Amino acid sequence: MSHEHKSLMKKHLTEEVKKKLKGVKTPHGFTVEDAIRSGVANEDSSVGVYAGDEESYTLLAPLFDPIIFEYHGHGVNDMHRADLDAAKLEADSLDPDGTYVVSTRIRVGRNLRGYGFAPAITREHRREVERRVVESLREFDGDLAGTYYPLEGMDEATRMKLVADHFLFKKGDRFLEAGGANRDWPEGRGIFHSADKRFLVWVNEEDELRIISMQEGANVREVFSRLSRAIDMLQRQLQFAYSDHLGYLSSCPTNLGTAMRASVHVKLPKLGKDEARLKRIAKELKLSVRGVDGEHSESKGGVYDISNKQRLGISEAEAVNLLIRGVGTLIMLEKCEA
Ligand code: ADP
Ligand code: ARG
Repeated sequence: MSHEHKSLMKKHLTEEVKKKLKGVKTPHGFTVEDAIRSGVANEDSSVGVYAGDEESYTLLAPLFDPIIFEYHGHGVNDMHRADLDAAKLEADSLDPDGTYVVSTRIRVGRNLRGYGFAPAITREHRREVERRVVESLREFDGDLAGTYYPLEGMDEATRMKLVADHFLFKKGDRFLEAGGANRDWPEGRGIFHSADKRFLVWVNEEDELRIISMQEGANVREVFSRLSRAIDMLQRQLQFAYSDHLGYLSSCPTNLGTAMRASVHVKLPKLGKDEARLKRIAKELKLSVRGVDGEHSESKGGVYDISNKQRLGISEAEAVNLLIRGVGTLIMLEKCEA
């Protein structure tokens, strides 16, 4: 199948940028050729680049800056500010009637300062990151206490059930594969989760950590507070890659800043009859639409995954407030549909 090459990488990798970046290598040996590998191999990429380490964002800036500007509207002189204060949320619930929203999930990506990111990390460093994260998580108590399950040695039935129940990442994402992020799979990867699976941490997938809070229903304040508490605790033990300009640094430029995707699984069977229209409406509301099994999946039974699109140049609380308002609007429109 041939796709039209329309990625941001393709658009912004001009001859001038290529000339500027010729021979440039980051401390983890990452080059512009490495950064574009995924987009070159996958012609249907929307972005098409990954960063190999935090320095990629400065040393390979001639390529990353215009991509970041086009995706997030964040210019080279703009600053990012975090705000994980749950008191700033405009509502407790995303669906006060409790009839449309099935579940709520908020995740953030994090990478440790000083290591390569997934596309460039060495095998030894990947194991070291896993060790350090698991050690930190061992300190967690109360509702955040849990167990780490390495992917290596996990039986296939357990792995498949965790994926089907929306708790675990899938394997073999072709975009990450081509970007070099799946090397040595499944070594060094795993999932930590609390007994009730409301607090989870993915280790060494697209980012070194994906910190996740989720639960059934629409109580977004509870989900956000739990996430905020967990981040706070991890931050006391681990130093994350961060810059005042780009916020938390992630392997994919779409996740910079808050590195946060706050999402609901919401029943929109009527609006879903015209998916192109649903996507247009969501875009107006600054929201993204995914299927129920996450990125690159389809809706099932009229249930959609709706989340904040912008992650950079907006605080975590502001992004969740956008979701609260946007989901409210979508539910109202669904009610009005014939
Ligand atoms: P990410 O959110 O980490 O960017 P995905 O879009 O692939 O990656 O989602 C990861 C998993 O989380 C998938 O199994 C997806 O179905 C699940 N998920 C996302 N949002 C929700 C939600 N609101 N409720 C339940 N599961 C969710
Ligand atoms: N690299 C892929 C693309 O350009 C995914 C981009 C966003 N998704 C992600 N999981 N980072 O289409």
